[in-house]
Amino acid sequence: MAHHNPWPDEGNTGHIWDEDLRELDNPAPLWWMLSFYAGFVMIVFYAIYYPTIPLADSYTKGVAGWTQVGEYHEDFKVLKDWRQAKFADKEEKLAALSVDEILKDDDLKAYAVATSKVLFGDYCAGCHGAGGQGNPNFPVLADDDWLWGGKPAQIQAALVNGRVGNMPAKGMMGNLNDQEIEQVADYVIALSEGKADDAAYAAGKAVYAKGMCLACHGPVGKPLAPAGAANLTDGIWRFSGDRDDVVAVIKYGVNVKKAGELIPGTKQAYMPSFKERLPNADVNIKRLTVYVHALGGGQ
Ligand code: HEC
Ligand code: HEC
Repeated sequence: MAHHNPWPDEGNTGHIWDEDLRELDNPAPLWWMLSFYAGFVMIVFYAIYYPTIPLADSYTKGVAGWTQVGEYHEDFKVLKDWRQAKFADKEEKLAALSVDEILKDDDLKAYAVATSKVLFGDYCAGCHGAGGQGNPNFPVLADDDWLWGGKPAQIQAALVNGRVGNMPAKGMMGNLNDQEIEQVADYVIALSEGKADDAAYAAGKAVYAKGMCLACHGPVGKPLAPAGAANLTDGIWRFSGDRDDVVAVIKYGVNVKKAGELIPGTKQAYMPSFKERLPNADVNIKRLTVYVHALGGGQ
């Protein structure tokens, strides 16, 4: 930087580098200054209009009353209103028609199935699995094997009333001993394998009669009408086909209570009613009935 200034009159600041590189003292361009001041005005405007300044345990709210979550809700409502308007006629039809009528209308049926997936995920998948494929101790819905029946009315009833499985421990009269329980367990497993007529299972077959299993499971392991009892002949296990598990079900039953408490070892089988649990339950129970009916192959 030179101390001598060879250009005293051009308005430079006296800072000179490399012989002739000078810093001039010009005013900033007008457009730049205006934007600069406009920036200040905007800061003041923003500070008054929007929530801005953090305080000890709150913040200045701004005169606009704007909040991020408020904006989100407004946008969401626009989307919801749009959707509602778009599908209003279909939703009205779902509300007005019975499940049987919905099933006859392919278009409406497809709509019910498509709009059930989220609902099923939120309210059913926790127990029945994401695709209705079941979970340990929770029945598969995506097959054609039903405890309570796969007709639309039966599925709908499951949702409206809930379902509670009931099987007494140690046979209908509770009078089977451990050896008999083992024998009848082997007979039940043989039933599922189609070998129940073998002489080896004659003792178990007699216990099946003594325990009055047929009252619920039918004379040959197939319930005469769906009323909650498992089909023992089809190799599809409600709980498990493991011999220990089969023995345990027969020994401790399902939902067996003593003095109001479930006894140790008893299987739990409890499906709550969804009449009060589901939002917009009237329509959504029909919707899910159509969905589950489709999952189960639709008989
Ligand atoms: C808390 C767990 C749970 C939830 C949540 C649940 N279920 Fe169930 N569901 C069960 C159990 C357990 C059974 C078997 C009841 C029995 O053993 O008799 C069952 C049975 C059923 C049945 C009868 C199955 C048959 O074989 O006859 C249907 C249909 C059904 N559930 C549909 C649904 C739908 C649809 C939802 C969602 C709205 C749902 N469930 C939510 C536990 C649940
Ligand atoms: C009062 C009716 C009733 C009687 C009597 C009864 N059961 Fe059951 N049983 C049921 C019901 C209901 C279920 C299904 C429980 C569920 O899934 O909620 C079941 C389930 C079973 C299962 C489990 C099947 C599977 O798929 O996992 C076996 C095994 C079984 N019963 C065997 C027997 C035997 C053997 C007897 C006679 C000693 C018997 N039951 C007597 C109602 C009965």
